[in-house]
Order: sequence, then structure tokens, then C-alpha cells
Amino acid sequence: MSETRSTFGSKLGMVAAAAGSAVGLGNIWRFPSETADGGGAIFIIIYIACILFFGIPLMVAEFIVGRSSRANAAGAFHKLSPGTQWKWVGRLGVLTGFVILGFYMVVCGWTVDYFIQSITGTLHTVSDFSANFNQLLANNTRQIVLMVFFVLLTAFFIFAGVQKGIERSAKIMMPVLFLLLIVMVIRATTLDGAAAGLNFLFKPDLQEVKSTVFLDAMGQAFFSLSLGMGCMMTYASYFRDDTHLTKIAVQVSVLDSMVALLAGMVIFPSAFALAANPDTIVSNLVEGGPGLLFITIPELFNHMQGSIIWSAIFFLLLSVAALTSTISLMEVVTVYIHEEYRMSRREALLLVVIGVLVLGTVSAVSLPFFNLLDMASAKFMLPIGGLFISLFVGWYLDKKITQAQLTNNGKISMGVTFLKGYSFILKFLAPIAILLIFLYGLIG
Ligand code: PHE
Repeated sequence: MSETRSTFGSKLGMVAAAAGSAVGLGNIWRFPSETADGGGAIFIIIYIACILFFGIPLMVAEFIVGRSSRANAAGAFHKLSPGTQWKWVGRLGVLTGFVILGFYMVVCGWTVDYFIQSITGTLHTVSDFSANFNQLLANNTRQIVLMVFFVLLTAFFIFAGVQKGIERSAKIMMPVLFLLLIVMVIRATTLDGAAAGLNFLFKPDLQEVKSTVFLDAMGQAFFSLSLGMGCMMTYASYFRDDTHLTKIAVQVSVLDSMVALLAGMVIFPSAFALAANPDTIVSNLVEGGPGLLFITIPELFNHMQGSIIWSAIFFLLLSVAALTSTISLMEVVTVYIHEEYRMSRREALLLVVIGVLVLGTVSAVSLPFFNLLDMASAKFMLPIGGLFISLFVGWYLDKKITQAQLTNNGKISMGVTFLKGYSFILKFLAPIAILLIFLYGLIG
């Protein structure tokens, strides 16, 4: 605690770091499989509504808490509301981060595996990509080794410090990934039969609606925006005093949603166009589950000139996108232990690494455990965290702090209506919507 806390060096660095946390496997791996499961367009509509109605406001709320306290997720509640139980919201967040790392690292390992398969050329001799993916799932040693590699890689960046490690990697790689996705969208949507995929993605079929689609879409929104666990809070604790919080929240959310939609526009047209037997597409998509990305994308690359190079670059960039997300997750847990238990950053990090390795190993060998961690964190822990953060800023936090943070102490002008509207969202709209979605998801 004696060291001074670091801050991000530049404005671009801040957006890049927050976007780096948001954009990750959640967009490119999880979004398509949840969309497939949720019946396509209807899922996407609800997902976007969640982002607009409470995703962006909640991100701003996390920024407010983080920057006004300049502390870790639990310490922030401690500082802003000493002697109350609000600190449990921060603690729940830290626990959630840990749970997410426990399965996310396994998918990071798959991504690295596909990168290796690409550069060695083996991926493009495969004829059945489903079988190829299942082979990886069956190979526990390989999954564990790659997961361990990724955990250590993340820890290395955390060790190198906030500014250098996170900022630099995010600033360069994110734009490249974005461009690559655009190229892939062009290829995928010009395949014969791609239109069916776009229809699935953008034309709602109300007959297909599942009762859990609201909960699934809400969970995906929280997960993708890194909300509800104090991640954005922790990053905002490193923001500078002149950072425009609302602007960054909007920029990050728009970027994040665009990446998810682009990923969808690559995967669904490819899946529909390239599936050997069109009748089984929809059921395959639904079963697609965690494998959808790893089955469809290599197939698409096989339809592009220079498949090895495309797929090597894609899986490399995807690994980097995942890395900027795992860094943010691990940072939350590490800085919490470091600041709350007065351990050095190094000791704290070591503890976190050991914990994640244990959890990661179990999820690598057990798909049900993997799914449990995924579901518990995205559909329950994050929205519950978000609900309480909303209530905290809406009802408990001194209005003066909120206002000072939103306007940077009066330097940015903001209309009274805007401030009132924002307060209404945090007090009523967001908490009630989250609760209703929960109830509907559980009962429906
Ligand atoms: N948003 C990240 C992704 O989409 C995952 C994440 C969730 C990161 C929660 C931090 C906190 O991949």
C-alpha cells in the first residue's frame, strides 16, 4: 500500500485498456455460441437492449466508484462506505473474477492450440473440424499444458506492471484484430449460401424463443462488457482526473458490440454456407456449444487463399485479445489481495496463479465443471454484482461524488435532465430490469 498507485499514461491507452478487457473470447467465442443457442436475431436484439439500457450506465457507475476511490474492487466500497456491508459487493466481484479465470483460461489454451495447429500446417489438412475439436477436448494433457502456459503468460504481464504491460499490448493488437474481422466478414458473407446465416442473425423468428433467452442475453452483455465484478472499477481507479467517463463507456461499449456482431457475421454465414448437410445446420449450431468458433473458422479459412497464414494471424490475434481480458481479470484479483491483505504484488500474484491453475485444471478435464463456472459467473454472479453496484451508486453514494465524477468537477457541462435521467436508471430501471430478467429466467 505504500507504493503510489499507477495511472494510465494517455487517453488512447485508457480506452484501449478498457476495450482490451471488454473485447475478448466473450465476443468471438462466447457470443456466437450463445447466439446460436438463443435462436439468433431475437437473442441479439435483447442483448443490444441490455447494453443500451443498463450496460453503458453500469459501466459509468463502475467508473465512478473506481475513480473516486482509487482502490481495488473491495477497497473501493470500504473507502466510500466505511463500516457498511457494501464491501461484500466488491468481494463477490473478486470471487467472480476468479471463477471466470477458472474456465476462460481453458478456452485461451484452445486458442493457442489452434494457433500452433495453424503454423505447423496441421489444421489445414483436417477434413472434419468437429472431430478435430473433439480430439482436443479429449486430450487433457494438452489442454492443461496450454492452459498453464496462458496463466503464466498473463501473470508475466501483470508482473510487468499496469502501464507498460497492459497499455502497450492493447494499443497495437486491437485495431489489427478489428481489420482482420472485417476481411473475414467479407469472405464469409460472399460464400454461396451465406444469406441463410445472415437471416438467422438478423431476422427474428419469434417461434423459436426460449424462456431463458433474456437471462442468457443479459449474462452475455455483462460478460462481454466486463461488467458486474469490479473490473472496470479497478481500471477506472487508474484513470486520470480529466478522463471523460461517459465518453469512454460509450466508446468501449460500441467497440465491444461491434466486434461481437462482426464475429457473428463471420461465423453464421460460414456455418450455414459450409455445413455439409444443410438440414443439420440448426441443430449443429445449437449443439455447437463451446466448439462453434473452433469448428467454423478453420473451415472458412480453408476457403481462402493462403489459409495457413490467415488462420495463424487470426488465432494469434484472438490469443492477444484473450490476453488483454485475462490480464484485467487477474489484475482485479491480484490488486485486491495485494491491497487488502497487505501482501506484496508478487506474493499476491503467486497466490492467484496457484488458485487459477487448480480451477483451470478441473475445468479442463471436466466439461460439466467448465459449463458450471461459465454459467454461474455470467448468468448469476455478474448480474447480481451489477445489480448491487447500480443500487450503490443510485441510492447510497453521495450525489455530489457522482456529479463531480461525471462532470470532472464541473469541467464538463452536463444538463440537469441528463443527470436526473442517469440517476433514475441506476435507482430504478437497471435494478428492476435485472431482477425481472432473473425471475423470468428462473421461473419461465
Ligand atoms: N469481457 C471479456 C470478454 O469478453 C471477459 C471478461 C469478463 C473480462 C469479466 C473481465 C471481466 O472476453
